[in-house]
Amino acid sequence: MKGRTWQAIVALVVICSLTSTPFGVAADQCRTCHEALGDKPSTLFKRDIHSQKGVSCADCHGGVASAEDMERAMDKSKGFIGVPKGDAVSEVCAKCHGDAKRMAQFRSMIPIGQFKALQASVHGRLSTTGKERIVQCTTCHNAHGIVQVADPASPVYPLNVVKTCTKCHADAAFMQKYNPSLSVDQLEKYRTSVHGMRNAKGDPKTAECASCHGSHEILPSADVRSRVYPTNLPGTCAHCHADASYMKTYGIPTDQFEKFSKSVHGVALLEKHDLGAPACNKCHGNHGATPPGVESISKVCGSCHALNADLFSSSPHKKAFDERKLPECETCHGKHEIIAATDKLLGNSQEAVCSRCHSERERAKGYQVAGTMRSLIDSLELLERKAQLLVSDAEQKGMEISEARFKLRDVRQARLEARTKVHSFNEGQFREVVAKGFATALVVGEEGQQAIDEYYFRRLGLGVATLIITIVAISLYMFIRRIERSAVHKQTSI
Ligand code: HEC
Ligand code: HEC
Ligand code: HEC
Ligand code: HEC
Ligand code: HEC
Ligand code: HEC
Ligand code: HEC
Ligand code: HEC
Ligand code: HEC
Ligand code: HEC
Ligand code: HEC
Repeated sequence: MKGRTWQAIVALVVICSLTSTPFGVAADQCRTCHEALGDKPSTLFKRDIHSQKGVSCADCHGGVASAEDMERAMDKSKGFIGVPKGDAVSEVCAKCHGDAKRMAQFRSMIPIGQFKALQASVHGRLSTTGKERIVQCTTCHNAHGIVQVADPASPVYPLNVVKTCTKCHADAAFMQKYNPSLSVDQLEKYRTSVHGMRNAKGDPKTAECASCHGSHEILPSADVRSRVYPTNLPGTCAHCHADASYMKTYGIPTDQFEKFSKSVHGVALLEKHDLGAPACNKCHGNHGATPPGVESISKVCGSCHALNADLFSSSPHKKAFDERKLPECETCHGKHEIIAATDKLLGNSQEAVCSRCHSERERAKGYQVAGTMRSLIDSLELLERKAQLLVSDAEQKGMEISEARFKLRDVRQARLEARTKVHSFNEGQFREVVAKGFATALVVGEEGQQAIDEYYFRRLGLGVATLIITIVAISLYMFIRRIERSAVHKQTSI
């Protein structure tokens, strides 16, 4: 053979292997015939990623791709399956997308296992017909004209996925058939959020349905493995919000997760798994993620800390803060960094929050009240501690003092109540609670002291009694001895 011919053959082999279509395209009679028919599947297939990778119609539909004759090509006995229906659709896709070896034949390195994930997901449950799953691969990706998911034309591209999901999730009649308790307001709410508004304007970087819920592995939100389950949610939000380079163009802080995870709420939720503590969504909403406005912040906090919020609403700060457009709770406690409240926050010392706005010269009334409140609560704590010591002492000495021990709880209760009553920012109301605590603490202290006194009194009494008994015993002994001696004396003298 001549060198040229060799070169041509080598070139052909190289080209074919590079395009990974070893004579496939030329021999794909399915395409040739169907494209001539001008039908929709074959038209769409021209821009399909599968077509580019050398997948043939027959790879999904079966049959003999090399046969020009229609009957032979679409011969059921040669594996032609026709149009797959129900779960058979996803099974067709999984033949490749669930098989690493098969994907390697196409030199693909993309993740596999979508069907497995889908089967275990909430969408893998049986549909109302009972014959197939709720969704198939094609529900979200289509069957022909499939493009890469990062392509803006993909139905799962961030700007399109909202529409793809809400086809079902905003359809009340459809959803009702499956799960009447599931709300269908996600789209409506999402549209009002910063995420939704930016998404509608063409920003693919904000959160959409799949960035919070996932894609193939979506689980009910009450499932502990769900990305939106309270203990997992902060990490889901942090995926974007803690990524400084991802968020760079927006100019908002990226420290929410870091601060939150150290806060009293974050520690309770993430470390102690206390589901009563708020995750990001309890303050920001699930689908309406916006920063809570000035008016709504106290409502957010008040949904759990109702007493504090009620007291604040009727306090002198309510009007003063509203006028200055200050957020109610956040002004003193912060938002993501909220730490355990201690008495140090209260008073007119440097570290107290009150002294940020109140001083001897400015808003002096508040300054004076803050000082009084602090010294009252300090005194109550001191009294409580004293009473506690006395009760413990008496108990150690074996005295029966359970009633006083019980009353100690009332003192503690009054102290906790006083901490909440701070939010009335009213000296009178605060004094009332503290006074109750004082009175009880004094009673308990007295009872403790009495028990201790009684212990010593009893001990003294016991000592004296023992002494007397000893003296009596000794004198008795002496007396008997004397009688005995005089009796002996008499006998000998007789
Ligand atoms: C020579 C032309 C020709 C060839 C080759 C051919 N088809 Fe078809 N195909 C047709 C025509 C015409 C129809 C529509 C007639 C019908 O509904 O049976 C059709 C129908 C189909 C349908 C729809 C069947 C249904 O039940 O609705 C599928 C799927 C299909 N072809 C796939 C293939 C595949 C895969 C190959 C290659 C293995 C192939 N075709 C090869 C002409 C062809
Ligand atoms: C990646 C897999 C895949 C490939 C490749 C593929 N199809 Fe399909 N096709 C499907 C699935 C799945 C359906 C079922 C319809 C659905 O679920 O939307 C379907 C349906 C059809 C139908 C029925 C009409 C319709 O639109 O529902 C025809 C005809 C058809 N395909 C022809 C073709 C032809 C011709 C080719 C090649 C040019 C091809 N298909 C390539 C998966 C594929
Ligand atoms: C409920 C909608 C939905 C269904 C059903 C679905 N997908 Fe996806 N798929 C997505 C979304 C959204 C992405 C985008 C990637 C992401 O956000 O994780 C994706 C990405 C992909 C990718 C790109 C690689 C990857 O995993 O990220 C492949 C391949 C894929 N899907 C195949 C499938 C197959 C095969 C099925 C059926 C077994 C399927 N998908 C079913 C929504 C869906
Ligand atoms: C014959 C094997 C085969 C079958 C069957 C198949 N695929 Fe694929 N699919 C591939 C290959 C190969 C790629 C390209 C992967 C790459 O780019 O690395 C691909 C890519 C994709 C992508 C784009 C992934 C990305 O990188 O963004 C999606 C989505 C997808 N397929 C969905 C489907 C769906 C839905 C079905 C069933 C209707 C299906 N596939 C059936 C082989 C197959
Ligand atoms: C074909 C319709 C359909 C599509 C498309 C669909 N879903 Fe669903 N989804 C359902 C149905 C039906 C359920 C309820 C299943 C049940 O409760 O048994 C559900 C359940 C869910 C749940 C669990 C709700 C809960 O807490 O119990 C989430 C989350 C969810 N879907 C998110 C999505 C997302 C995100 C997308 C888009 C990527 C999507 N869905 C696409 C029909 C659909
Ligand atoms: C910013 C994150 C985020 C985005 C974006 C998001 N969700 Fe959710 N979704 C959540 C959280 C958080 C929950 C509730 C978890 C809980 O109840 O503890 C939830 C709950 C749900 C539920 C269960 C019913 C309910 O409303 O409580 C469905 C269904 C759902 N989402 C679908 C969607 C759909 C569809 C989209 C897109 C329009 C979407 N989600 C976008 C975070 C998000
Ligand atoms: C896919 C990435 C992504 C995820 C996941 C995400 N966000 Fe966002 N979020 C953004 C982007 C981008 C913005 C737009 C920033 C802007 O416009 O200021 C934004 C905006 C916000 C805003 C408004 C900020 C402002 O002041 O404008 C809040 C609040 C917010 N997100 C909370 C959350 C919460 C809570 C979660 C989790 C339930 C979450 N986000 C999940 C990307 C994300
Ligand atoms: C206890 C309630 C609460 C929790 C929990 C919470 N936030 Fe916030 N968040 C707020 C408040 C209040 C604001 C400030 C609103 C303002 O100042 O206008 C805010 C503001 C934001 C902003 C706007 C930018 C900024 O930092 O001011 C983003 C983004 C945000 N939060 C994300 C998150 C994320 C992510 C989480 C979970 C890791 C989270 N938040 C947890 C209450 C909360
Ligand atoms: C979903 C309910 C919930 C919401 C909303 C909530 N919290 Fe909390 N908060 C808790 C729980 C539960 C604890 C107790 C955590 C622990 O210590 O175990 C707590 C603890 C606190 C503490 C410490 C209390 C102490 O005894 O030291 C402060 C201060 C606080 N929250 C303020 C706020 C503020 C301000 C907001 C609004 C920005 C808010 N919380 C929103 C549930 C909530
Ligand atoms: C002007 C400052 C200020 C404002 C505004 C404020 N707090 Fe406080 N808060 C304090 C101080 C000071 C303490 C600590 C009292 C102590 O321990 O002596 C405290 C304690 C607490 C505690 C722990 C004690 C308890 O009640 O269990 C919670 C919870 C709390 N605040 C919630 C809130 C909420 C909710 C709001 C908004 C409605 C709010 N705070 C507004 C100053 C403030
Ligand atoms: C963000 C600033 C700010 C902080 C912090 C603050 N206050 Fe105030 N306070 C005000 C303003 C403004 C008024 C309105 C009356 C005024 O101008 O004197 C006020 C009024 C009061 C009043 C009513 C005074 C009167 O004239 O009847 C009391 C009592 C009070 N504050 C106590 C406190 C205590 C206690 C703290 C700390 C726990 C505190 N404040 C923290 C700004 C603040």
